[in-house]
Amino acid sequence: MAIYNKVADAPKTPFYYYDLGSLQSTLNCCLEEAVKYNYQVHYALKANVEKPILAKISACGMGADCVSGWEVQAAIDNGFHTSKIVFAGVGKSDDEIEFAIKNKIFCFNCESLEEIEVINNSAKKMGSVVTIALRINPSVEPDTHKYIATGQSESKFGISYPEIKQTLDKITELKNIEIKGLHFHIGSGIVNLANFKELALKVNDINDWFLSRGVEIEHLNMGGGLGINYNDPDSEPIVDFKGYFSTFAQNLKPKANQSVHFELGRSIVAQCGELLTRVLFSKTTASGEKFLIVDAGMTELIRPALYSAKHKIENISAKVDNRDNNIERYYIGGPICESSDIFAYDIEFPLSKRGDLLAIRSTGAYGSIMSSHYNLRPTAPAYFSE
Ligand SMILES: Cc1ncc(COP(=O)(O)O)c(C=O)c1O
Repeated sequence: MAIYNKVADAPKTPFYYYDLGSLQSTLNCCLEEAVKYNYQVHYALKANVEKPILAKISACGMGADCVSGWEVQAAIDNGFHTSKIVFAGVGKSDDEIEFAIKNKIFCFNCESLEEIEVINNSAKKMGSVVTIALRINPSVEPDTHKYIATGQSESKFGISYPEIKQTLDKITELKNIEIKGLHFHIGSGIVNLANFKELALKVNDINDWFLSRGVEIEHLNMGGGLGINYNDPDSEPIVDFKGYFSTFAQNLKPKANQSVHFELGRSIVAQCGELLTRVLFSKTTASGEKFLIVDAGMTELIRPALYSAKHKIENISAKVDNRDNNIERYYIGGPICESSDIFAYDIEFPLSKRGDLLAIRSTGAYGSIMSSHYNLRPTAPAYFSE
């Protein structure tokens, strides 16, 4: 990639680098597959909110999926039309709710009876009638890390099966909300399409149940969650959107007047980003582990520490100098004063030295956006191919 073709000239590390051409190809492919079934896609801002990225995504006509009032603001500021903004989240504050009502967003995805009552009261106070979708917890166990699974019955997300009837009975009396949608999101990083098939089949039953109760559901929102290939990003730079959407097309049975929506984050932006870092020091522990200590840490990329996520790491300097055949085993860790600040455990990696430039791949989603200032570290800059 152009910006670090000359390794010595690369900007000061650590930094994020985004290939906007790769993002555009991913967007084109996603929309091409979604449009086959008339599916509508909302980009989940939580994955990445860099301005050039949001500009590209909003320009291609996608909606936005937000989980905070600040994300709603960012979506509006970056060209997403309010009529295509959905607002999910298990804990919306009164201010966030009022902000979203004021901006006339498409829909609130609601996760509890109490939340719906608060939204109704705010809407009444503001003289509005607000569209809501009920986020139902479908009790589907996705094949993913437990910290990013949301569809299992013990999760804090969504309205549970036993509460659906009681919730519906109570909210049909509320005058300032209209239930027009059903919302689901079973988790993130899911590559087993059978999980989505299971979801679609459950949604058919839930949809029928609501219709049998006389609730006119206009849209089904199936959430996001499609995972990507972290092990070998070059073999799959764009995820299998075809397989993903066709899984729903084959199994989900929306009624004739119902639209179907998705909220994708990771699958859209993960592969276009990399975190660039340099080796500061090499050292060996008393028990023989060889460590490379690099200048990026969990402050820039927390996924490995938080979810034991594995990202492919490349030694760009070794590749450029043709010395990448000399293989060692390394642990690769950052400078943060936490033992969990490790990017890779005991991996085969080119023999490396101080100053080598490394690329941590597939970090476009849930990378920079989850960064922190722990140890008083500054925000790593971002560079873009355009
Ligand atoms: C409600 C909701 N929708 C959509 C997403 C986006 O998920 P993903 O990035 O896996 O597509 C998330 C992320 O967890 C979410 O919580």
